Amino acid sequence: MAQKLYIQTNGCQMNEYDSDKMRDVLQASHGMELTEFPELADVLLLNTCSIREKAQEKVFSAIGRWKKIKDKRPDVIIGVGGCVASQEGAALQKRAPYVDIVFGPQTLHRLPELLNQARKGQQHVVDISFPEIEKFDALPAPRAEGPKAYVSVMEGCSKYCTYCVVPYTRGEEVSRPLNDVIAEITTLAEQGVREINLLGQNVNAYRGETADGEIASFALLLHYVAAVDGIDRIRFTTSHPLEFTDDIIEAFAEIPELVNHLHLPVQSGSNRILAEMKRGHKREDYLEIIRKMKAVRPGISLSSDFIIGFPGETEQDFADTMDLIETVGFDFSYSFIFSPRPGTPAANYIDEVSIATKEQRLQILKERLNDMTMAFSDAMIGTVQSVLVEGASKKNPLHLTGRTENNRVINFAAHPRLIGQFVDVLVTEALPNSLRGRVVETSIEKITQIA
Ligand code: SAH
Ligand code: SF4
Ligand code: F3S
Repeated sequence: MAQKLYIQTNGCQMNEYDSDKMRDVLQASHGMELTEFPELADVLLLNTCSIREKAQEKVFSAIGRWKKIKDKRPDVIIGVGGCVASQEGAALQKRAPYVDIVFGPQTLHRLPELLNQARKGQQHVVDISFPEIEKFDALPAPRAEGPKAYVSVMEGCSKYCTYCVVPYTRGEEVSRPLNDVIAEITTLAEQGVREINLLGQNVNAYRGETADGEIASFALLLHYVAAVDGIDRIRFTTSHPLEFTDDIIEAFAEIPELVNHLHLPVQSGSNRILAEMKRGHKREDYLEIIRKMKAVRPGISLSSDFIIGFPGETEQDFADTMDLIETVGFDFSYSFIFSPRPGTPAANYIDEVSIATKEQRLQILKERLNDMTMAFSDAMIGTVQSVLVEGASKKNPLHLTGRTENNRVINFAAHPRLIGQFVDVLVTEALPNSLRGRVVETSIEKITQIA
């Protein structure tokens, strides 16, 4: 019987992508199969996140539960990967000696070897090195699961914002060669993938080598991806305002496959705080990008991340953030209270803002952002949206579910043969977390022709 693998994934889409790759390598090397039940697993892997304190706390509660499984079945192997593993390394096993393997985001392809070492009785196997791009060369060919796929194009971050752990956990920016990325996307498209989400901690910092030794920019990559047969929708996460150059904005004008949505985190609307965060740009630079994007893509859906209560944030700084969201008009956003991360400069900044004030500010921001989200959804009622059909709806198996260009979940009645295709759906209702709609006639005509 095949050995069973259980993987728990915390954190961002890069971790989701990496977890899929962990499954792929262990399937190729050890014939392992995923299980949904940790109690049945031979190998338990935790892919961790350390972006905020709360994320990090999840590590010890998860592996604490797994220890009980290992107490009963001592042959079980426990591995911890991802950003906490990268930061803590062997220290993790000091606190939790029952963890057999500690591996980093760049060494997951070495899991088969690390597992063999652990099984041979070697205690505390650790590999959290940064062997640059080796990981991607060592991975099995990608397998499509449905019509959407993530493709990691660059790793790491060299921006060193003063609050952030990513440059320490993932290393400096490294890009995959252009041909490798396109080959991966072509393989996925051949398996029916229609939407690609290009991933990177700073995806627009992509600088990939071309076959003739030149350097391809992110904008050029977008053109190449759009040219792959079968790829009709392109997203990317996460981009940074600093390298959001005019050629990327032009790409939005020229490439219809690029969705009418952009996630561009600004973190704060205050120039003083942006400087303290070492973001490298001013609020005016951000607004200028947004102005240009709205010019090439009228009605574009915009989203952002915000950090509230950065050390020294004054009422005026907060007011500047509130003012920026009014100027931009975000479709949806993520907002967090500043979490001091060990080893980052901002962890040592004097912070006199009380937690009560921070929570109050976060509440005010969230309420306003939620209102904006609902207004955006309401404005979608009566419009026809292009939807990539993903499968049966969770709540009603007779209905199908898919996503609009601005990533709203939309449910509608239609024949299951539409799964994996784009359909035009008229939005009829906006609910807090999803939309309802019906397939419009033009699409039905198209479908009948195919049928
Ligand atoms: N590279 C992306 C963000 C990656 S981290 C960018 O620069 O925009 C995802 C989000 O987590 C960040 O945008 C930020 O809003 C939040 N974040 C990062 N470090 C944080 C910290 N120490 N405290 C609170 N939020 C944080
Ligand atoms: Fe972190 Fe800043 Fe890099 Fe984003 S750009 S990953 S916030 S250091
Ligand atoms: Fe978390 Fe690492 Fe992603 S810290 S957000 S898993 S890059």
